Amino acid sequence: MGKIKVAIAGLGNCASALIQGIEFYKNITGSEKMVPGLMNPSIGGYLPKDIEIVAAFDVNRNKIGKDISEAIFTDNCTVKFADVPKKGVKVVPGPILDGVAPHMVKSFNCYDEKEMKPVNVVDYLKESGAEILINYLPVGSAQGSRAYAKAALEAGCGFINAIPEFIASDKGIGDEFEKKNLPIAGDDVKSQLGATILHRAIVDLCVNRGVQILETYQLNVGGDTDFENMTVEERLKTKRISKTTAVTSIPQYEIPTKIGPSDYIPFLKNRKICYIWLKGLLWGQVPATIDVKLSVEDAPDSAGVIVDVIRCMKLALDRGIGGRLISISAYSFKHPPVFVPDSVAKTWVQEFIEGKRER
Ligand SMILES: NC(=O)c1ccc[n+]([C@@H]2O[C@H](COP(=O)([O-])OP(=O)(O)OC[C@H]3O[C@@H](n4cnc5c(N)ncnc54)[C@H](O)[C@@H]3O)[C@@H](O)[C@H]2O)c1
Repeated sequence: MGKIKVAIAGLGNCASALIQGIEFYKNITGSEKMVPGLMNPSIGGYLPKDIEIVAAFDVNRNKIGKDISEAIFTDNCTVKFADVPKKGVKVVPGPILDGVAPHMVKSFNCYDEKEMKPVNVVDYLKESGAEILINYLPVGSAQGSRAYAKAALEAGCGFINAIPEFIASDKGIGDEFEKKNLPIAGDDVKSQLGATILHRAIVDLCVNRGVQILETYQLNVGGDTDFENMTVEERLKTKRISKTTAVTSIPQYEIPTKIGPSDYIPFLKNRKICYIWLKGLLWGQVPATIDVKLSVEDAPDSAGVIVDVIRCMKLALDRGIGGRLISISAYSFKHPPVFVPDSVAKTWVQEFIEGKRER
């Protein structure tokens, strides 16, 4: 199989976990029945090692100019689980736009526009040979995400939107990608064993077992720049919508909910703690409650999903399919173009991989 040439906007913790994982799984052959941590060892013949990062954009002065193998361990705090050799790909300055909120200038070590000029993203993508661009910008980057999506369109790249900006789920933008026959997937990664998939599973279980859900909440705390960025409620609007609709889209009735990032606790670093609480009515309208605590390293949790999205997007590119990739988006993102139960999405993805479903 050929290589899958990927560019990244935002070389933070998620990118670090993805790049480390490509190295970590470099020896798998695809014939294994089970590989711990991988949902699919092979996707249409593509293995994780086939993913090659060919370009990386960031605004952090300490990351810019460094080889990506070094930059992923600079000013990031997720766990190190693989040594990454030099890749010969240097981080270049991307346009800042609204990627850096005023309270994040210091933590992101943002470059000064008077001293450094951003590269032309479209030209750089073309020169690098990138086929796919992943958006890993901070939550609340409305302009930044749209600028990178537009650059992907102009450079002829597929676009994966890992963050809670409504881009793949926006019909207008999806149509633009379809016109250019370029695939797009998103929005907002639904992690491998994250708060959303766990909360959805609990709600789905209640619905399937005739339990009426009266109310539920999901509180999340963490200590990385993602959580620090989200201490400003204004940047959180789309994140709250994305996380909430991912859960409330399951039952056929409304449930009072409170779901979202709850606090920033610096010493937790990339560890995310999530508390899910739910109250429901059983037989005879007798109440029951569920209390769950999940503790995960957040960035590897997202990379375990993106590694499949990249390979599904490559299949779409190989098959000449553009527009919104409905099945992999429903399975892998909190706010996809089409919401379906996860079990249905899993079947759709399998059918897509086997070529029985177009998107
Ligand atoms: N499980 C998960 O970790 C998970 C799940 C769903 C969504 N997400 C989302 O993915 C995104 C990335 O998460 P993360 O943990 O890697 O965040 P992070 O804070 O570690 O990384 C963000 C990176 O973006 C860079 N950046 C800021 N503005 C930029 C710009 N204009 N151009 C290029 N780079 C820019 C920062 O310097 C930083 O390196 C966040 O929006 C997060 O909410 C993460």
